[in-house]
Amino acid sequence: MPRIAYVNGRYVPHVDAKVHIEDRGFQLSDGIYEVIAIRGGYPIDLAPHLVRLDRSLRELRIAMPVATNVLKMILGEVVRRNGIDEGIVYLQITRGVARRDHAFPVKSSRSLVITARRHKLPTEATFEKGVAVVTAPDLRWRRCDIKSVGLLANALGKQTAKEAGAYEAWLVNPDGFVTEGSSSNAWIVTANGDVGTHPGNNDILSGVTRKAVIDVATKLRYKVVERPFTVAEALTAAEAFLTSTTSFLMPVLRIDGKTISSGKPGPISRRLWRAYVDSLATRIKPW
Ligand code: PDD
Repeated sequence: MPRIAYVNGRYVPHVDAKVHIEDRGFQLSDGIYEVIAIRGGYPIDLAPHLVRLDRSLRELRIAMPVATNVLKMILGEVVRRNGIDEGIVYLQITRGVARRDHAFPVKSSRSLVITARRHKLPTEATFEKGVAVVTAPDLRWRRCDIKSVGLLANALGKQTAKEAGAYEAWLVNPDGFVTEGSSSNAWIVTANGDVGTHPGNNDILSGVTRKAVIDVATKLRYKVVERPFTVAEALTAAEAFLTSTTSFLMPVLRIDGKTISSGKPGPISRRLWRAYVDSLATRIKPW
């Protein structure tokens, strides 16, 4: 089955999918995106992803190029045309094509691009294996709450992780606090069993998975503390993990080569994982 992409009103073969060289997304990173996981051909947490998409657009004053119900229809169609049962759908909206100028064009065309691909979502086995992370400086701007396509600092972080043989880079701000991962949110469990993650402010992308895990943790009566933590605190934490659309909840077993606690997924991470996976049944809905 040939891959199909959606580009500005047309479904085209992936190899032929193109936007103009003066698209502001290409020249200025003037655009936003979302990544939504697909299971059984249907999206996980579509509604909160669309709420965040809407917010990112409003923060950048880019008008939605199509009505939300049309967008849902196109997302579903791209997933269907690519025969995706388990995977991800990627959607990007930019301010569109205009003569290069930093200020916004008077009339903006907007580009809408949607792709989908197969991707194995986490399983019990991947959970049990856990991952290693390394720390890297957080070099990003001060609006990390916007899911902008300006991902250069995130890409540099992820490359640092890759070169170190790690899964993710935990980004550390100048005050020594972990903000989040290069494409995931960062968490610790303290000795007294509290679950901690950075507050959902402008310094992080407030993950859809982060919110889902806060909800399941609260239901399980864990105390969720939204406060920044240092690398030293993470190194001595009872447990550490990360969350994202594509990783669900993944135990972090090593940070910068140092083993966290027992070096195995902890009991609280496991309970949260189980509850998160169980909750998927209610959070996977048709388009
Ligand atoms: N990344 N923080 C950053 C910087 C991210 O890029 C992401 C998601 C998250 C987690 O958000 P969510 O739980 O909504 O996926 C946190 C996506 C998956 C990506 O860029 O591929």
